[in-house]
Amino acid sequence: MTILVTGARGNVGRRVLARLHAAGRPVRASSRTPGELDAPAGVDVVPLDLNRPETFDAALDGVDQAFLYAEPDGAKELFAAAARAGVRHAVLLSSSTVGGPGAATDPLGQFHAAVEESLAASALSATVLRPGAFAGNAYGWSAAIRGGQPVRLPYARAHTVPVHEDDIADVAVAALGDPAVAGRILTLSGPESLSFTEQIGVLADLLGREIPVHELTREEAVEEMGRFMPPLVLASLLGHWAAAVDRPARIEDTVERITGRPARTFRQWAEEHLGAFTPAGG
Ligand SMILES: NC(=O)c1ccc[n+]([C@@H]2O[C@H](COP(=O)([O-])OP(=O)(O)OC[C@H]3O[C@@H](n4cnc5c(N)ncnc54)[C@H](OP(=O)(O)O)[C@@H]3O)[C@@H](O)[C@H]2O)c1
Repeated sequence: MTILVTGARGNVGRRVLARLHAAGRPVRASSRTPGELDAPAGVDVVPLDLNRPETFDAALDGVDQAFLYAEPDGAKELFAAAARAGVRHAVLLSSSTVGGPGAATDPLGQFHAAVEESLAASALSATVLRPGAFAGNAYGWSAAIRGGQPVRLPYARAHTVPVHEDDIADVAVAALGDPAVAGRILTLSGPESLSFTEQIGVLADLLGREIPVHELTREEAVEEMGRFMPPLVLASLLGHWAAAVDRPARIEDTVERITGRPARTFRQWAEEHLGAFTPAGG
């Protein structure tokens, strides 16, 4: 029987796919545009659009476990199709914004909560992963840092507990097929709370040079970040960051409990991805 990995081009999904494949577990990858998916050799790649229920049955044929991305439109139909297909366990990539402060009015919290509610109302056995901020969000600073420009951001002293995407993938793979975590909600974080300024400081230390930070006002952030981010997502993020200024965030021990080893640090993520912050040839 096969494990379906949705979002297999994503930061987390591609890591889940690689781990399952390397472990020799039968795996199928899906994408809205399967032709663009660079899956490991021998992996079955199928079309699946989480918003288009007509794509569900074929993608789920013969599947008994699934790693699922959260998409409210079509979630109910997806879970019903998965139950019909005989999926015995699903792992959902949700978000710690569900159940966080102000979740009921937070657009990101509502988005993920809607999917979690559909899942809970379905016949599927499932494990829900609720990671906080990904370490990879630091990619958002990479163009400025590569170009020697100041990093422009609001709420520079806001804290997150960046979680390494490899840790999310490790927990997802451990949870797939583990009856001990079926029905559980696993909130994930990294091992240390760091402000954005401190995260940029880690990158500066590794690069061996200062990285100036230009703190934007909220209004400036709405104007600058609104050029590439949907307004509701931006409003949600600004709300979270405003509330997190000078407030170290809660550290979860889930990664260590599930995988048996400490969560990876932001510094480790930065060391592994330093090339993205370094000018070509530099
Ligand atoms: N960044 C954070 O700090 C953070 C924190 C907590 C939770 N999250 C959640 O984690 C998820 C993002 O994870 P990521 O960074 O791994 O993703 P990502 O790199 O942004 O990739 C998104 C993936 O989702 C797939 N996808 C998007 N819409 C789809 C649709 N309608 N049907 C099928 N597949 C679809 C894409 O697949 P194709 O394009 O190949 O179809 C792609 O593989 C989001 O749900 C986000 O809210 C993020």
